[in-house]
Amino acid sequence: MEHFHDIRVAIAKGRILEQLVPRWTKAHLPWPIEPESRQLWFSGDDAGPGAMIVRGPDVPTLVARGAADLGIVGTDLLVERGIQGVLEVGDLDLAECRVVLAGTSGKRPDGPFRVASKYQKITRDYLDRNHFQADIVRLSGSLELAPLIGLAAYIVDIVETGETLRQHRLIEIETIMPSHACLIANPAHWRAKPEVVTIRDRLVQHLA
Ligand code: PRP
Repeated sequence: MEHFHDIRVAIAKGRILEQLVPRWTKAHLPWPIEPESRQLWFSGDDAGPGAMIVRGPDVPTLVARGAADLGIVGTDLLVERGIQGVLEVGDLDLAECRVVLAGTSGKRPDGPFRVASKYQKITRDYLDRNHFQADIVRLSGSLELAPLIGLAAYIVDIVETGETLRQHRLIEIETIMPSHACLIANPAHWRAKPEVVTIRDRLVQHLA
């Protein structure tokens, strides 16, 4: 039987962490994270790898630096950050959502406008592709507030069920890109540690 105790997986907190548990256990990996705990590092045991819980944008950083062997993060964040220093080694059909342009009217902008987003690159590329003239207001979260308080007429944000948009009377105008959870690996560890490949295989083979 394989031993995974010296393997570390960095998991993006939020919807990926919430949706990962059944996939992880189907892959016959013991889930190391204690619910209700405020701990950020769970060392696992012989049968399962250790897991660290981090903010999504930090997952590629930890993996690129070798602090984690494997990372589980949304493709939205990989596109936003680029994949320098990491290998994309698999897709998981969970945390499926989309990055969208949304606004109060549901109409495409027809003049210069302001758009709030935490996705600087994705938003800039989208604006350029569409020849839109817009200022990007950079926020780290609570994007839906921006139109309500007159900060920006539009937002570029992630949508899953659409409930958060509805609650703020915002209307989805256009999908910019789909997103789902994916697996990334540290290139050197991917080659040197066969257990990393085994964990990837197990997680990917147990697609629901
Ligand atoms: C995202 C997004 C919305 C919400 C959309 O936030 O910013 O607030 O999820 O989900 P829904 O369509 O199912 O309502 P997230 O919880 O990912 O955290 P964030 O504030 O870090 O973006």
